Amino acid sequence: MGIELTKEAERRRTFAIISHPDAGKTTLTEKLLLYANAIHLAGSVKARRTSRHAVSDWMTMERERGISVTSSVLQFEHQSRVLNLLDTPGHADFSEDTYRTLAAVDSAVMLMDHSKGVEPRTKKLFDVCRLRKVPVITFMNKLDRAGLDPIELIDDVSSQLDLRCAPLFWPVGMGRNFKGVVEIATGDFLLFNAEAHGTTAILADRVPWKDAKDRVGAAEFDKVEEDLELIREAGETYDPAAFLRGELSPVFWGSAMSNFGVETLLDYLAREAARPSGRTTEDHIRIEPEEDRFSGFVFKIQANMNPRHRDRIAFLRVVSGCFHKGMEVKLARTKESLRLARPQSFMAQERASVEEAYPGDIVGLHDTGKLRVGDTLSTGSLLRFSGIPRFAPEFFGRMRLRDPLKRKQLDTGLEQLAYEGVVQVFFSPKEGPQSAVLGAVGVLQFEVLKERLKNEYSVDAIFENLPYRHARWIIGEERSVAWLRAGSSFKVLDDRNGQPVLLCETSWTIDYALEKAPGNLELFDIEPL
Ligand code: G4P
Repeated sequence: MGIELTKEAERRRTFAIISHPDAGKTTLTEKLLLYANAIHLAGSVKARRTSRHAVSDWMTMERERGISVTSSVLQFEHQSRVLNLLDTPGHADFSEDTYRTLAAVDSAVMLMDHSKGVEPRTKKLFDVCRLRKVPVITFMNKLDRAGLDPIELIDDVSSQLDLRCAPLFWPVGMGRNFKGVVEIATGDFLLFNAEAHGTTAILADRVPWKDAKDRVGAAEFDKVEEDLELIREAGETYDPAAFLRGELSPVFWGSAMSNFGVETLLDYLAREAARPSGRTTEDHIRIEPEEDRFSGFVFKIQANMNPRHRDRIAFLRVVSGCFHKGMEVKLARTKESLRLARPQSFMAQERASVEEAYPGDIVGLHDTGKLRVGDTLSTGSLLRFSGIPRFAPEFFGRMRLRDPLKRKQLDTGLEQLAYEGVVQVFFSPKEGPQSAVLGAVGVLQFEVLKERLKNEYSVDAIFENLPYRHARWIIGEERSVAWLRAGSSFKVLDDRNGQPVLLCETSWTIDYALEKAPGNLELFDIEPL
């Protein structure tokens, strides 16, 4: 074990922000970069946002619709730690992309608008984190606006997500009366400065809370004292080990727009967020970050990030060992050797060439179509990490060719794009690719598919919606699977790994199948690996 490797791995903190649209993810991301001195917000936040979109707008479609499909990786340093922030698409239609990205992080910041509490996407993304026991840090945003009573909010989050919440700070007032937060561990009062928002990283002034009565007014002071008493007696106590096990979430409060709370969150991320974790192979071997041999897995493939070079980038999360530019690795799936010649790192919004990377880091690899989502690359003996599960699609359709002579191009395109994770493809083993049913978690995935089939495979096809709304991976005894396949009320197709999948229009069919099937049958909305 190299000392250098252990030291570098120990420095890494790899995380993502999960939130419902509009909670303030873009704003918080920019403010984290600002406080880490990684960017200087020369103009307004808005200006920055526009320029960011210019980088990520890799498709005309995306530009036209004004949405950002791409996710990038932002690397910056704070307090001698290297933070990798994996940005995720804002649009709910690309949540499959976000799910995959969450497979590559070690912690997540769950950002909420404190006037709304848990919203549908917050819940869904939290559930994905829970699947992998990813530790979650809660940040209640927009305290400069009126919101829910903090005690009620904490109760609501705990009960809706079945999560122990331990506030590290407590808010004093809100909206126009927002005065700041009390740090529970130290009894310090961090003062909100309404003037501070914008482009400079100002640190909040601290005074002892016990001396703050005059400053905040007797009524507010007494209310906060009462709240603090209540959480001391009946609330959760912060326990770092429980946080790292994903069982307890520390809670922060602030206003990303006004820069308040950003420094406390950033300090916490650098200090206490989970260090890079190892991964388990399909043969149940645990690979830890400090192992000398290099290993990593591809969690995302992104085409055409830069419209000027029509390239494809595979995002690789380093699991163990040190990555060197030009190194030769093996791709376990094909047993091929690959030289990683032009790797890229992602520094703030710029892509730069990377010489070395360590566990927890994300490297961008130029891909000529060899790599697939879930692939493992390693030195030494062949390794295969257990894959990245796919989530049940909720929208279905098929492609009808305008020109029947393009069948081959369509089949190749669908196969490759499915491996990139653009859509999922199911087909009947008897009828082959002709029977392909396409599935997506969000309908815009189909738009991307159509666009890319046209641009990259010269396939002009008409997309037809199919009425299915649910898909379930089938695990069961042979006779129960055969019963499902034979039933006229069931549509069973195979996924690309040959696993049977039940497609249906209503959830009633799922209940019916589970009740009536002979033998043991289980149906999963997440691909069983
Ligand atoms: P998202 O990426 O999660 O979708 O959210 P984004 O940061 O784009 O923020 C959504 C809206 O919420 C923006 O307002 C943003 O300015 C605002 N916002 C973010 N953080 C705070 C906060 O702490 N306090 C308040 N009051 N507002 C906040 P917008 O009107 O949609 O855009 P803009 O014109 O302000 O840029």
